[in-house]
Amino acid sequence: MTVKIYGYGDELTINGVRIGDLSPSDHENIEKQRGGRNYAPLEDVIVSHVQDSSTLIARFPDPDDIKKYIEKELLDGLCCYSAVNQGQLNKIVVDAVVHHLTKEKIATVPRSIRHKYMSAFLLAVTELTGMDRVVPKVAGVEAPELMFKLSRRWGYFKKGIPANEALVVVAKENFHGRSMFAVSASTDEGSREGFGPFLPNIEKVPFNDISALEDLFSVKGDKIASFIVEPIQGEAGVIVPSDDYHPNVAQLCKKHNILYCVDEVQTGFGRTGAMFAHQLYNVKPDLMACGKAAGAGIVPVSFVAGSDDVISVLTPGSEGSTFGGYPLGAVTAVYAIKALVDMNLAAQAKEMGQRLMRHYEAIRSEFPDKIKEARGRGLLTAFEMHDQPHLDGHRVSVELLKRGVYAKETHHSTVRVAPALTITAQQIDYLAEKIREVIGSL
Ligand SMILES: Cc1ncc(COP(=O)(O)O)c(C=O)c1O
Repeated sequence: MTVKIYGYGDELTINGVRIGDLSPSDHENIEKQRGGRNYAPLEDVIVSHVQDSSTLIARFPDPDDIKKYIEKELLDGLCCYSAVNQGQLNKIVVDAVVHHLTKEKIATVPRSIRHKYMSAFLLAVTELTGMDRVVPKVAGVEAPELMFKLSRRWGYFKKGIPANEALVVVAKENFHGRSMFAVSASTDEGSREGFGPFLPNIEKVPFNDISALEDLFSVKGDKIASFIVEPIQGEAGVIVPSDDYHPNVAQLCKKHNILYCVDEVQTGFGRTGAMFAHQLYNVKPDLMACGKAAGAGIVPVSFVAGSDDVISVLTPGSEGSTFGGYPLGAVTAVYAIKALVDMNLAAQAKEMGQRLMRHYEAIRSEFPDKIKEARGRGLLTAFEMHDQPHLDGHRVSVELLKRGVYAKETHHSTVRVAPALTITAQQIDYLAEKIREVIGSL
C-alpha cells in the first residue's frame, strides 16, 4: 500500500483524487464509506474556505450538472459551536501564529523540558480568569474530564472522603463532551447506548433546581466532592437559569465544603456578554473548564483554571498531555486572549445579542403560533418553536441554508444561533430577516 500526496487547496491530490474535482455528493460518499458515521451533517453542502470573519464560502450541487458544484456565501450563525468567537482567521491570532512558526520557529516540545511560551500562557490565563493556577489541555472534553479527576483527588486528599467513595454531582441535560466521564454524566440516551458500564458515583439533579441540590447535599454532602455544571446549558438548547441559581449553588457548595465547578467550554471567552458566564451571576467557582475559543478556532486549546487549594492536589505523573500547553498551543491561546480583550468582544457580544433578541421578539409577536420562546445571553441564543410536527428545527436549518445562513437545530423544535462575536449589526439584521422569512414559510 502506498499513498501519494501532492498539491495545495483544490490541487491537493491523494492517490489521483483531486480534492477540487469532488462534488458535494462525492464528499458525502467518501465520508459515508471511509468515515466513522458519527455525525449527520447538513446534506448537499461543502465548506470550501472562509471569506471574512463571519462568512463561509460553500459549495452546493450545480443544478445543471450533478457532478459539479457552484460556490455561494454562507453567513456563519454558529462559528463552530463557539470555537471561533474571535471570528474566522482572526488577524491578531493568525499573524501571531505565522510569526511564531516562521520567525520564532518552535511548534512542539514535551512538558518534560520547559519552554518559554508556557510562562506567557500561564500569566495570560491566570490574569484573564482571576484564578490562581491553570492546567492546559487540548480538546474541550478534556477540561471537564480533568475537573472530574481533580474533584475526586481533592475529595480524598483535602476533604477526607474515604477512599473510592467520592461522589460527583452533575445537572441533568448537561453536555460535557464525549469522554467516558461525559457520557457517564449525560442523561442523553443517544450518547450512552452501547457504551456502558459507566463511571460510578455520579449523581444527577435537575438543572436550575436549588432544592434538589440542597436535598442531595444534606443527605450525602459528606461524600460529595463537587458539583459540575454549565453556567448556561448550551447543547440542551441554551437553557438560562434563574438569576439566583448560581449564587445559591455557590453558597450551598461552600456550606457543605463541596467544589463548585463550572464548564465554560461553550459559554466562556466573551460568548455570553461577560468574559466568562459565571461572572454574569457574580460568583467565583473553585474550578472552571474552558476550551473552544481558547484557541480562537486555529488550534485546539483547553484548560482548567482554579484555586490553589484544588489544583495543588496534582503531583508529577498524576496528570498530563503531550500537546497540553505545547508552544504553538500556548502562543495561540495567548493571542486568542489578546484578540478578545483588544477587540472588546465580550461587550460586542452583549450589544449584538441584545439586537438579535429584539429581532426574535419581533418575530415572535408576528408569529405567536409558531415561536414559543427566545432565550439567550450575549450571543449564545436560541429560539424554540411550539412542539408541532411542521415546526421542525432541522427543516429550519435546511431552509436557512438555502437562504445563505448556517445555523443548526439543537433539538426537534429549537434552533441555536451563536455567531462570531465580531458579527456586524448589518449581518445580525440579515440573519434575523432570513429567520423571519423561514418561520413565515413553515
Ligand atoms: C459545555 C461543553 N463542555 C464540553 C464540550 C466538549 O468540547 P469538545 O467537543 O471540544 O471536546 C462542549 C462541546 O460542545 C461543551 O459545550
